[in-house]
Amino acid sequence: MTSIAKIDHFVSVEDSSNEQVLLLLKRASAFKQGVLWKSPKKQIFAANLFFENSTRTHNSFHIAERKLGMDVLEFDVQTSSLQKGETLYDTVLTLSALGVDVVVIRSSVERYWDELLQSPRIACHIVNGGDGSGEHPSQCLLDLMTIQEEFGDFSGLKVAIVGDLVHSRVARSNMQMLTRFGAEVYFSGPKEWHHKEFDHYGWFLPLDELVSKIDVLMMLRVQHERHDGSQSFSKEEYHQAYGLTEKRAKRLPDKAIIMHPAPVNRDVEIANSLVESAKSRIVEQMRNGVYARMAILEAVMSGWEKYYL
Ligand code: CP
Repeated sequence: MTSIAKIDHFVSVEDSSNEQVLLLLKRASAFKQGVLWKSPKKQIFAANLFFENSTRTHNSFHIAERKLGMDVLEFDVQTSSLQKGETLYDTVLTLSALGVDVVVIRSSVERYWDELLQSPRIACHIVNGGDGSGEHPSQCLLDLMTIQEEFGDFSGLKVAIVGDLVHSRVARSNMQMLTRFGAEVYFSGPKEWHHKEFDHYGWFLPLDELVSKIDVLMMLRVQHERHDGSQSFSKEEYHQAYGLTEKRAKRLPDKAIIMHPAPVNRDVEIANSLVESAKSRIVEQMRNGVYARMAILEAVMSGWEKYYL
């Protein structure tokens, strides 16, 4: 049987050792290959709290939970007591008291989990579905899974992360994990969306210098909802200056792959014709999201095996 990583909460990639992440990847791959899950002998409740919009993360966690035999509470923020001023802390405290075992949260507040994890009264496991511009660890795991499927290993791989770096939780999680696993990380995009803290992880270079030399081109969504309105690119200007145009794509090495966490702004970050092209792994990233999230949920339910017949 494939080994299972044991992790109490999954909120930041910093919290997991390389060994734990490799076990999660192994387990995600086993789920993808059809490893059967058994029905739990104890009822397990998962609650999904999404304060920011989501299609992929929300639905793939829901499917992962259902595939693992959990009972799923789709917590409706709009009809909950949050509308009466209840805090996130009191909401999670309540769900924990009601018997919820694991809570998946997406919030615009960075590190919202700090006070939740410090509470001796909150007993449920916390999984981060994305916190503002902070981290997106489950996206990171599915991205690693997609890269591993393609190249087998991360060591020495040249990965360019391109676009709205400073607002991207995907970029933050991925730059950390990829460098930990020995990949060479590069950055590109508008200079004002780069931050000096990223120098620790890799060089910032024009995309035209990078495109013919990389193995993985990871394009990022332009996060309009986090901008203050001072940015003045038109879509076409952005695409021509920083996007993957058809012309640039012709210079990619034969084995290079194109990734994007999605949703994609077609013809902005990536030319419409390239989104589903042979080099694109964007659909596979979405597919892998279910299996990566199954592995995460299984891991946070430490001693998971005892719940199964
Ligand atoms: N990649 C991603 O997080 O997509 P959603 O915002 O649709 O969940």
